[in-house]
Amino acid sequence: MSKQFYITTAIDYVNGTPHLGHAYEKVLADVIARSRRSLGDRVFFLTGLDEHGQKVKQAAQAQGLEPQAYCDELALSWQSLTTRLNLSNNDFVRTSSARHREMVQAILSRLHANGHFYQAEYRGYYSTRQETFLTEKDRRPDGTFDPFYGEVIELVEENYYFRLREHQAWLIDYIEAHPDFIEPDYRRNEVLGFLKHNTLEDLCSTRPATRLNWGIPVPFDPDFVTYVWFDALSNYVTIPAALGDPALTAALALPAHPAGPALWPADVQILGKDILKFHAVYWPIMLKAIGLPLPRKILAHGWWQKDGQRMSKSTGNVVDPIAVIDEWGADAFRYYVVRELDIGPDGNWTDAGFRSRYSAELANGLGNLVNRSLSMLQRYRNGIVPARSEELASEISTAARTAIGQLREYRLQPALLTIWSIVNRANQYVDQTTPFKLAKDPAQTAKLDAVLYNLAECCRILAVLLWPYIPTSAERIYDQLGLAAKPDSFDAATWGGLEPGHPIAGPQVLFPRKDSPTP
Ligand code: ME8
Ligand code: MG
Repeated sequence: MSKQFYITTAIDYVNGTPHLGHAYEKVLADVIARSRRSLGDRVFFLTGLDEHGQKVKQAAQAQGLEPQAYCDELALSWQSLTTRLNLSNNDFVRTSSARHREMVQAILSRLHANGHFYQAEYRGYYSTRQETFLTEKDRRPDGTFDPFYGEVIELVEENYYFRLREHQAWLIDYIEAHPDFIEPDYRRNEVLGFLKHNTLEDLCSTRPATRLNWGIPVPFDPDFVTYVWFDALSNYVTIPAALGDPALTAALALPAHPAGPALWPADVQILGKDILKFHAVYWPIMLKAIGLPLPRKILAHGWWQKDGQRMSKSTGNVVDPIAVIDEWGADAFRYYVVRELDIGPDGNWTDAGFRSRYSAELANGLGNLVNRSLSMLQRYRNGIVPARSEELASEISTAARTAIGQLREYRLQPALLTIWSIVNRANQYVDQTTPFKLAKDPAQTAKLDAVLYNLAECCRILAVLLWPYIPTSAERIYDQLGLAAKPDSFDAATWGGLEPGHPIAGPQVLFPRKDSPTP
């Protein structure tokens, strides 16, 4: 079986409810997953939850719950987010599940058998909030640690260490030889800079079970559980392995079981800039040590603020994606986040900015175009598609090809802008050709036919190009055009798909106009 296109997101800590940042990342992954399906690929899209570690354990304790019960309860709201966002994920990993645990243990056993771990005493600092060790070098000039790390505690304990140091030169060479491996460029340069100017410390990969029991037991030493990051990063291969990816069952020397889809290596792994080091340094080295190829691309997105401030539950400065979806619909949310923020830089959410794009671009831009195009076709031609016309064919086909090329390179915001050039062109075409005037003049029948055909065909092609971004609205455009298929293949983005004589179903409002609040 040929390898499927495999895409992953970071798995979220289940120590609270999802916010804009989590939802944004999952939308980016979904737009890519859907666009690959539209390109004709078979796609496997994995997302899920990171449930182990001190941080989750403490959050559970604060509520008087056992960690598993706490995670089970919260997992429901995270899983419902995937539905509310209309994600097309093929699986959902929870790191407290048996299938994940067994595969992590297989990885640990294999690495241990091959001498990748050694035991040593650890003395130093630990940030629970970031689940990471710190050293003296991490202190700021005034001697304190960045508030980002939360409370920093001192520790002395015995642990198993994973050998990273010996792979440092290899990793630098690999990243230099594969310029597309880490994107954007400035993130790649950060990783290279870090690797060239620091000596990698070996990774402390366990926790004594006496201090922390909420983790995966280390198979070769019951006194320890697995470090949460080691456990979490593994999810990208444990789920494919559990499903029977032949390359993984072979690499992990798993007992024979039915072969599943070929997924690894991932084609693209999406994650936020704050966890790039884990994914661009530790993860590649773990894979190399297991004997597996590296993912083809690591794509690091930026961070959202709200109203220019860091989002934080304690101050109430958060954007709740569910509340936005309840009020505006999933497509409006999906559209806004991709349109507003390119993959890479940081962004800022303001309610006013959201409303203004909704109104100008969705309601008055796309919504109005579809509505008036189909209304006129209904009114002037009884909803029957007139004779084919090529008037806009070449410009629209060129834009469609450009957008598809950009999507192929995961350039979601540029592709969306290209697609919007079609919306704007078609709206301008209405203003230039004035079909409502043509309709009054019997001598202009052929001209009106041509205008109506061009507009309906623009709407159809827009549905195809927009399906990865706003799938529900794209499907509704197809429904309104009376098309039974789904707009889920870019093969349909070629001019002339609408057959003369085809009856449309008629317009319905896509993005209802909302009264803007009086300032
Ligand atoms: O880091 N804007 O989980 P997490 C944009 N469990 N993205 C944001 C964001 C914001 N304001 N806040 C968070 C973890 N994110 C680990 C990952 S992966 C093997 C383990 C992103 O819940 C963040 O960058 O803290 C990360 O990619 C994801 O949400 C989960 O963050
Ligand atoms: Mg975080």
